[in-house]
Amino acid sequence: MAKTTKNVSTRSPSPRINIGINDSDRAAIAKGLSRLLADTSTLYMTTHSFHWNVTGPMFNTLHTMFEGQYTELWNAIDPIAERIRSLGHFAPGSYAELAALTTLDDVPQEPPAALEMVRILVEGHEAVARTARELFPLADKASDEPTADLLTQRLAVHEQTAWMLRSLLVEQ
Ligand SMILES: [Fe+2]
Repeated sequence: MAKTTKNVSTRSPSPRINIGINDSDRAAIAKGLSRLLADTSTLYMTTHSFHWNVTGPMFNTLHTMFEGQYTELWNAIDPIAERIRSLGHFAPGSYAELAALTTLDDVPQEPPAALEMVRILVEGHEAVARTARELFPLADKASDEPTADLLTQRLAVHEQTAWMLRSLLVEQ
């Protein structure tokens, strides 16, 4: 049979991929990374909103701390999305898709008190860590080292940030 050079469909995520990870594993890993992207995006927006809306005697500390955290989260979403593309799938980018995929609650509409913000962010970082960790065995099984490496980096950041935030909640 003659080979065709014609592209399949314009909506096909990519031409045939042959990187040594089978189609179903690539799809499952991309799905897990999409959940990680949604969680990270939601936590980014929550943290940025808290940067804007924090009040009280800890204003300076938290306003500055949240800025560092939302900047890190913002920088993290691009490598996650591009790993999904490298696996041959589209990255979710609409608010509706991200809201459907995330395990986190949406940004509170009424800004909480400062320490309640901290508590919400601890839970958010812990939830994103769980989402990343859940995907690890599959990436491992498929010998998907780039995804495993990305997950390792994300786990280290979320666990460290959760510790730092949690430390603010210890009573003196
Ligand atoms: Fe700012």
